[in-house]
Amino acid sequence: MLRLEHVTVTLGKGTPLERKVLNGLNVQVKEGEFLVVVGSNGAGKSTLFNLISGAITPDSGKIYILGKDVTFSTPMERSRLVSMVVQDPKAGTIAQMTIFENMAFALKRGQKRGLKRFFTPYRWTLCKEKCSILGIGLEHRLKEFVGNLSGGQRQGLSLLMAIAQDSSILLLDEITAALDPINSDRIMELTAKIVTQYQRTCIMITHNMAQAIRYGDRVLVLKNGTFVKEYTAAEKSKLPPYDRAFWEFL
Ligand SMILES: Nc1ncnc2c1ncn2[C@@H]1O[C@H](COP(=O)(O)OP(=O)(O)OP(=O)(O)O)[C@@H](O)[C@H]1O
Ligand SMILES: [Mg+2]
Repeated sequence: MLRLEHVTVTLGKGTPLERKVLNGLNVQVKEGEFLVVVGSNGAGKSTLFNLISGAITPDSGKIYILGKDVTFSTPMERSRLVSMVVQDPKAGTIAQMTIFENMAFALKRGQKRGLKRFFTPYRWTLCKEKCSILGIGLEHRLKEFVGNLSGGQRQGLSLLMAIAQDSSILLLDEITAALDPINSDRIMELTAKIVTQYQRTCIMITHNMAQAIRYGDRVLVLKNGTFVKEYTAAEKSKLPPYDRAFWEFL
């Protein structure tokens, strides 16, 4: 599904802040796999996602999605293959638009036409159906502005918008970091449900080891721009689930 071969990325090129962030990184992700990536602050995790989503290009190395070389394809071309949810619930949604308009926007992602002919009764029913998957009542609030929603509700919508399009790979960058423990658990349960229901290949970045162990088919540790350890499904059950203990264990 996804293959990265000897990928190297330098950020801040030609400035005093120039830094090699990814360094000869290799990874292969199978179709339907739920891969978790962990690593300390600044390890290069979000840079890895920016690379997969096409926001940045590598200095060297290759990226393949579904067997196709996409190393230098544009973010627009890549958006049909990859969708991403980030830490900030506000980043994935537009506050001044209604829930329906946000969903409509997501369903049109990667296409050039505007939203004008989108607001049809059929699409309304479709958005209602999709929102009801979340089980948090958004389907009854489609006309409300997204700015009215709480962080957890907004992150649920971001998740739904990310999977609204049939993209093959879902990237989740610390999606529960801004949420309280209850909403964090709820969003993770929803994520697992959605990923299974829509049979998505998923890569998730987290600092929460309990989540990594519970949801990851495999856990990879990123350090200094390269993967230094891999825990398979069998091995990860032996890991300490407490964040601090895990980092000391590494
Ligand atoms: N434009 C830039 N120029 C130079 N260095 C940069 C630039 N953008 C990011 N970096 C550096 O690249 C490194 C990796 O950043 P990245 O955001 O990928 O880390 P991360 O693993 O996601 O960390 P966190 O857990 O804090 O989110 C950091 O040291 C960061 O300071
Ligand atoms: Mg990050």
